[in-house]
Amino acid sequence: MSIAKRDYKRITVKTLVDMKANGDKISMLTAYDYTMAKIVDGAGVDVILVGDSASNVMAGHETTLPITLDQMIYHAAGVVRAIERSLVVVDLPFGSYQSDPKEALRSAIRIMKESGGHAVKLEGGKEVKESIKRILNAGIPVMGHLGLTPQSIYKFGTYTVRAKEEEEAHKLKEDALMLERIGCFAIVLEKIPAKLAQEVAESISIPVIGIGAGNGVDGQVLVLHDMLGMTHEFHPRFLRRYMNLYEDMTNSISQYVKDVKAVDFPNDEEQY
Ligand code: KIV
Repeated sequence: MSIAKRDYKRITVKTLVDMKANGDKISMLTAYDYTMAKIVDGAGVDVILVGDSASNVMAGHETTLPITLDQMIYHAAGVVRAIERSLVVVDLPFGSYQSDPKEALRSAIRIMKESGGHAVKLEGGKEVKESIKRILNAGIPVMGHLGLTPQSIYKFGTYTVRAKEEEEAHKLKEDALMLERIGCFAIVLEKIPAKLAQEVAESISIPVIGIGAGNGVDGQVLVLHDMLGMTHEFHPRFLRRYMNLYEDMTNSISQYVKDVKAVDFPNDEEQY
């Protein structure tokens, strides 16, 4: 049974704003393919993020920087074919929106046209304001992303907690207000102190969705492969693992190998 105060059918960007106003928390998970997205959507997740974390978990890159717009569109199209209820938000990859607003709009239009996604997400505050405005003017919903922004990893140098110092916290608060003012429908806050995240969530009317940002925000997002325990080298404090699929899959696959070698598979009932 749902513990939401209301029953939200098909999720739209407006539903999310209503959820915040009604005090209903928003659940968000990543997915990058049809089969996983079908399970995530069917389990009642409100927002599916086709994150550029696909660069790490699907392609094995060390950072999110190498994934291309074509690859993001490929992942997003599979996700969109699977869903019945969730809102699908697609990350604009590194290099597809930073150089100028026209290029940002062209990239966002390609995502909407070619994948069928419902909204885009991009990283940054006032540095990308004009790009966000251009995309919004074309009627494309935009989710912001502040705090730890992995596309800037080479500027930060590490994946540690952001905005612990007053100057960076102040800029983050200003950026969040600006994103709300220009028309973003939601903001992701990644890996910042819980107190700061709560302050931001209370200062704006659009939903704030946290990852490593505590419980005082309007919803939570995790990378699907991490929360299912498929990845096992990654242990940030904020990650709750709901399964240990790495171990379960390894055991099942090893058993299959043994069965094949022992000519135990297929048995009499498993053949024609
Ligand atoms: O790409 C991604 O998975 C993300 C989440 C970590 C928010 O941006």
